[in-house]
Amino acid sequence: MDYKQLVADTLAPALADSLSVTDIYQKIERPKDSAKGDYAFPAFTLAKIFKKAPQQIAADIVDQIDTTQFDKVEVAGPYVNFFLDKANFSADILTQVLTEGADYGQNENGNNGNVPIDMSSPNIAKPISMGHLRSTVIGNSIAEILKKNGYNPIKDNHLGDWGTQFGKLITAYLKWGNEEDVKKDPISNLVKYYVKFHKEDVEHPELDDEAREWFKKLEDGDEEAHHLWAWFREESLKAFNAIYDKLGVKFDTYNGEAFYNDKMQAVVDELKAKDLLHESQGAQVVDLSKYDLNPALILKSDGASLYITRDIATAVYRDKTYHPAMNLYVVGSEQMYYFKQLKAVLTEMGLASAKDLHHIPFGLITVDGKKLSTRSGRIILLDEVLDDSIEMAKKQIAEKNPDLPNKDEVAKQVGVGAIIFGDLKNERMNSIDFNLADQLKFEGETGPYVQYAHARAESILRKASDVTIPETGAKLSDPEAWETVKALADFPDTVVTALKEFEPSDIAKYSIRLAKAFNKYYAHSKILADDAEKPARLALVKSVSTVLKEALRLLGVEAPNEM
Ligand code: ARG
Repeated sequence: MDYKQLVADTLAPALADSLSVTDIYQKIERPKDSAKGDYAFPAFTLAKIFKKAPQQIAADIVDQIDTTQFDKVEVAGPYVNFFLDKANFSADILTQVLTEGADYGQNENGNNGNVPIDMSSPNIAKPISMGHLRSTVIGNSIAEILKKNGYNPIKDNHLGDWGTQFGKLITAYLKWGNEEDVKKDPISNLVKYYVKFHKEDVEHPELDDEAREWFKKLEDGDEEAHHLWAWFREESLKAFNAIYDKLGVKFDTYNGEAFYNDKMQAVVDELKAKDLLHESQGAQVVDLSKYDLNPALILKSDGASLYITRDIATAVYRDKTYHPAMNLYVVGSEQMYYFKQLKAVLTEMGLASAKDLHHIPFGLITVDGKKLSTRSGRIILLDEVLDDSIEMAKKQIAEKNPDLPNKDEVAKQVGVGAIIFGDLKNERMNSIDFNLADQLKFEGETGPYVQYAHARAESILRKASDVTIPETGAKLSDPEAWETVKALADFPDTVVTALKEFEPSDIAKYSIRLAKAFNKYYAHSKILADDAEKPARLALVKSVSTVLKEALRLLGVEAPNEM
């Protein structure tokens, strides 16, 4: 039942002359403080129409409406406050959660439309950075939120696996490299060769000529060059996949930049045919002045393609292959301007999916106040951060619950969950300063806090295993339960807004709110007391466990039953 609709319908007879039910519905608010009711109608917004004091309007409304379906309807200053019939409302929400289980909150708004998500996309032979972590976990969560809204997400890892740097890498490897080292630790060694190349080429500029030649060979399909490139790619991917495995993130496709090598000419031809390419100082550009943007450089004067040339080919490919309902790019905010240009070029080309192309940017991440960058030499390997986190979680569990049977598994779920949650609870555009110890605390707004509330609910259910939980929600008169029930009721709406704003933080914040409400309930009421309402209370606990687990799943965080 849509209770906001009930409020709107109740108000309608008093306001029918001036407002439609839809107008009324849109004005209804959800007071933050439940002492002010569960829903509130702001009567002051009608002061002009009625030419009366807001308080008087509110009082007149209450006189004219039928309030029997509510616990209470009151005038409070310029507002009409509605207090829901708690017992009926609770029974209603619990019935929904218990019968739908993990499907609670699922909607079909997306009509199964395809949504490619360009995410993670690290560069071959370079360490995956904390910035790539953000793209990976934000993208992964948005994919889950898309599914919950009835879309079909396609997670694509657009690897940086092509470019002149491979000429340098091949040159460096053949001079100073060693197969065994690369196999043992691909990323650090490949980075080492690359750094050495840049040190040496200051005094030996002929190295640059060599590198250019190797890249040319690579482009021409030379066997040795291609073999080395493919091997660097494979070894790097092994290292990346180890991290993705730890994070529990899977991709549907790994169509990196190289995948589009043979698809760019057609794009250039199409731009020409549509008369969009213009010469500018020998280069080929698309004019974007009508978008108030700088021209997009498509081909350099030597005919070489650019990052955007590949991205245009990528978008065209996705358009043809998936007929996307939306096209999403989870890439850091430093590429904001670039994605505006990309979208503008695609719009000029008349690409169907250009309209619903969204760049989903995110802010910077620092660790303990320090910026992360591979160039400055301070390489923070994500893998190490994950391992540190798991280690810390292990220590905490050893202290708190030494008898836990599957300690290692739980430590992984908690350690990794803390990192993912610590990222996703922030609005994505905010910069994050990450402090591992803070994110691992069992109190405060952390992943472990929410996981612990879930585990606590599961532990109650284990203790009460002799009671059958009603399949439809029995009435719950328990006043302490109210905030928890209301939080449960808000899950389906949260799923919708989180997608509208591409904000996993909506889900994370929601999970904190539900966990907090439940912990309060747990502290104030005797859930396991043997009385007539025990099954109803357990129905609430079970619903909380289900929804917390589901909210965490949408974030890509696991929910252990015991911790
Ligand atoms: N590899 C790029 C980087 O590390 C990100 C690629 C983003 N995706 C894209 N289609 N441009 O900055």
